[in-house]
Amino acid sequence: MTRPKGIVIAIDGPAGVGKSTVGKLVAARVGYSFVSTGKMYRALAWKALETGVDLEADAGLVALARRLKWEFPKGAGPEADVSLDGRRLDRELSEERVSKASSGIARLAGVRLFMKDMQRVAGLDGGVVMEGRDIGSNVFPDAELKVYLDASPQARAERRVAQLKSLDMPANYDEILDFIIKRDAQDSGRKNNPLVKAPDAHYIDSTVMPREKVVESIVELFERARAKKT
Ligand code: DC
Repeated sequence: MTRPKGIVIAIDGPAGVGKSTVGKLVAARVGYSFVSTGKMYRALAWKALETGVDLEADAGLVALARRLKWEFPKGAGPEADVSLDGRRLDRELSEERVSKASSGIARLAGVRLFMKDMQRVAGLDGGVVMEGRDIGSNVFPDAELKVYLDASPQARAERRVAQLKSLDMPANYDEILDFIIKRDAQDSGRKNNPLVKAPDAHYIDSTVMPREKVVESIVELFERARAKKT
């Protein structure tokens, strides 16, 4: 399949592994846009928390998602912002209550289908780096380049602490490590589109690999994938 704007680069992996940071850097290097699908789950979870919609009720959450006006206005850099009913969401999406709720609602089949449809529309034309848990395995099984980015839970907890501190938000290493381990179990153990490495994804372990090296490796894979397409 030839896409008008370029290829689809799918980056999957566990919570806090740096998919967004790396994905944005790769997107900037190759002139692509960047889509964080986690932000979409977070936005819906945030709205459900704000409006008191039951976080276990798949049909109620899908109804809520359908009622909302989803927009992705141009943000800073290659990543668009998420806006719901005209409200741009930013810091609220990083709250731990939102992280927890998003992981919960991401178990639900109807919610996942809604998100998948929205994500397919966002990436179909190509020229996009899309990160999440199931992009290579479920949303874009036909992605021209798939990367599975991994790192130990401890390394990810340390990075998350640094990230929260830089945002002036409270950060406790032990609590965060605990969250990460629980979220890994929930994301990998769920029935609907669990976090898995697609068989044709390139595995990159970034536990001790500097970020620039990770970016460099993906850009190299991109050059090869693109050359194959032309
Ligand atoms: O990547 P993140 O932490 O922002 O994602 C928030 C939650 O959304 C995460 O716990 C799992 C879920 N998610 C998912 O199930 N599938 C995706 N493609 C992206 C995120």
